[in-house]
Amino acid sequence: MIQNEFGIKCFPDTTTCWHYDDKIRQYYLARSAGFPMAKSWIFWNLEDALDWIEDATFPVVFKLKGGAGSTNVVLIKNKQEAINVTRRMFSIKGISFGKIPHNNNLNYLRDFLKLYALRRFIAEYRGRLGPKGRLPYWQTHRDYVLFQKFFCDNQYDQRVTIIGKRAFSFLRYTRPNDFRASGSGLIEYDIEKNHTSCINIAFEISKKMNFQSMAYDFVFDENTKPHIVEISYTFIDYAVRNCPGYFDDTLNWHEGHYWPQFSVIDMLFPDLDIKQPPDSVMG
Ligand SMILES: Nc1ncnc2c1ncn2[C@@H]1O[C@H](COP(=O)(O)OP(=O)(O)O)[C@@H](O)[C@H]1O
Ligand SMILES: [Mg+2]
Repeated sequence: MIQNEFGIKCFPDTTTCWHYDDKIRQYYLARSAGFPMAKSWIFWNLEDALDWIEDATFPVVFKLKGGAGSTNVVLIKNKQEAINVTRRMFSIKGISFGKIPHNNNLNYLRDFLKLYALRRFIAEYRGRLGPKGRLPYWQTHRDYVLFQKFFCDNQYDQRVTIIGKRAFSFLRYTRPNDFRASGSGLIEYDIEKNHTSCINIAFEISKKMNFQSMAYDFVFDENTKPHIVEISYTFIDYAVRNCPGYFDDTLNWHEGHYWPQFSVIDMLFPDLDIKQPPDSVMG
């Protein structure tokens, strides 16, 4: 509103953030501009979804449109599992954040073993509702379903972060014996191991779409062709700070550690020619 009504430069601006944490918006936006989004099947009513499931080939990935750290992403192995999550999404109850009712959910065993449901019930009974109360989930998802082609055999995904004319890139290995990388914490900073094609694509999208700051998650198909599963203007700062350097938009490499906050200010006010404070100041 500040940006539109008062014409004051903002970060993030609307172009950069209106699709934040919504993989359906991201999919349609980037695909309509011709960029390689991971093939997805999105339905807004039960009948269409069940029709598609009837002839679908499994496994497929099922996700909520929001989430981070892979907590809302599961692998659906067969038709029955697909029907189960779909019926839940089109039920009154829907599916809460981090609570996909499927044994491939990363939290499934933890929630079960730690008796989360019972503990929340007791907390509510004792009047201790707080963030750990019985219904701590502020987002319930329902009335849509999002399936995605499963890119098997990925040992890592590639996260490219574009801020203005800088590209930071690293790989994230999947959890052991799992297909999910996001949130694993297993980051590979060796720039030689990164795919330049992803960096090019990310630069191209940010330029064409006028994104101020954008992190792109790439997975790879059987021909090592990259496909985007998520874009996000915000991210964990130290993961980018730990990169050994960045590529500029002509793909020249610049050695050094840069805080993304510095790159954001530098991108917003290029004429100021600001310098990043030394590590002793940044703490
Ligand atoms: N369609 C897919 N095929 C294979 N792996 C995927 C697919 N989608 C996501 N992943 C893996 O799961 C992780 C989490 O997916 P993502 O959609 O980025 O959700 P989050 O918002 O939790 O990061 C990714 O880092 C990637 O390793
Ligand atoms: Mg991700």
